[in-house]
Amino acid sequence: MPAPTWPADLPPFLWGAATSAHQVEGGTDNDWTDWEAAGRVRGQARSGAACDHWHRYREDLDLLQAIGLNAYRFSVEWSRVEPEPGRVDPAALDHYREVARAARTRGLIPCVTLHHFTLPRWFARRGGFAAAGAGRPFLAQVARTVRALAPWVPCFVVFNEPLIYVLMGYVRGEWPPGLRQPHRLLTLSRRLARLQQEAYAVIKAEAPGALVGVAKHQVHFLPATPRWRDRAAAALAGRLFNDAFLEAVADRLDFIGLNYYTRNWVTARHPLTPGFHPPGGPGGPVTDMDWEVDPEGLEVLLHRLARFRLPIVVTENGIATTDDGFRTAFLEAHLAALARAGAAGVPIRGYFYWAALDNFEWALGFGPRFGLIAVDYATQARRVRPSAAVLGAWARAGPPSAPPPPSPTGDRL
Ligand code: FCB
Repeated sequence: MPAPTWPADLPPFLWGAATSAHQVEGGTDNDWTDWEAAGRVRGQARSGAACDHWHRYREDLDLLQAIGLNAYRFSVEWSRVEPEPGRVDPAALDHYREVARAARTRGLIPCVTLHHFTLPRWFARRGGFAAAGAGRPFLAQVARTVRALAPWVPCFVVFNEPLIYVLMGYVRGEWPPGLRQPHRLLTLSRRLARLQQEAYAVIKAEAPGALVGVAKHQVHFLPATPRWRDRAAAALAGRLFNDAFLEAVADRLDFIGLNYYTRNWVTARHPLTPGFHPPGGPGGPVTDMDWEVDPEGLEVLLHRLARFRLPIVVTENGIATTDDGFRTAFLEAHLAALARAGAAGVPIRGYFYWAALDNFEWALGFGPRFGLIAVDYATQARRVRPSAAVLGAWARAGPPSAPPPPSPTGDRL
């Protein structure tokens, strides 16, 4: 196993916020645009221009800089770059290069995601990643994107949440392609793991110094009762959902990206039932998406990841709420958990809040409000929420440490 290394020309700790292209730029010739047109999003919502980040990214980056951050995670929309098979639109690549350059000139290190759930329509119609030969066009897209962005971008995430992608699209049928075929879970996640590994070599060929990672969603699984069957089920859920993919690709990673949001209570009958609050459970606050707030879960998972002996970057952590005081408390509690894990020796090198600004939350449409920056969708006006000051204070203080920077509001969780 390699020892944790971190390039000397990067800040010792990345303090950032994240977005993904479709969620902030809106619909293109991709599978989600078709999904929305088919009425599959809550309230029949369409992403449209979303928050028009495509045109307003400079203003958004100005705000992230003013908050005090030093990094920005965003994704490149493949369907803009290659709207038809083999036809590359150089203007789209120029655009993303410009976003990366604009971030850099504001002191924000760009971290670029190469696949964040969406597929070009033509690629989806061929069967997406499940089709034979799907790897070749995907790796070609990886290569051309990295080649274009490498002068500005030191950090690439190949897949965002590969297992969530497979579960939602192929098992639960709630996202495109809308299938309920659980037997495909294993084959498809293996294929994505192989592509994650192959992309490593492709990226290194284009940008030898760039860091390559994956943004892996992890859940804090807890047994709903002390019964041994439920404890075994919780342990198994962790092995399969949290660990297996990472173990398969760990020898081709420069860092582990952790996306962390919540805990799940597990019983042997319901091993993976998000939003299941067991009767007599501890209760506690839930977000507008009914996700339980569990800062200790972040600490537990960071400690578990330490065994990979790789730098860890929290690539997403955030809360959907219209109550910004709740967001402040969420941030304080999670950043304190992060600092505790760091102080205990876990090699954490970054924290990205999800999301930089309010955006299109997939099948839930525009309802959930995740942003450090509030967006008025009628006017596209931006307003930095007070909670952003919490993250800004930590960012200005350098790598996380205990005791934390003074809190604007005090303890609420
Ligand atoms: C993650 C996704 C991100 C966003 C947040 C709330 O699973 O990566 O796009 O939807 O959840």
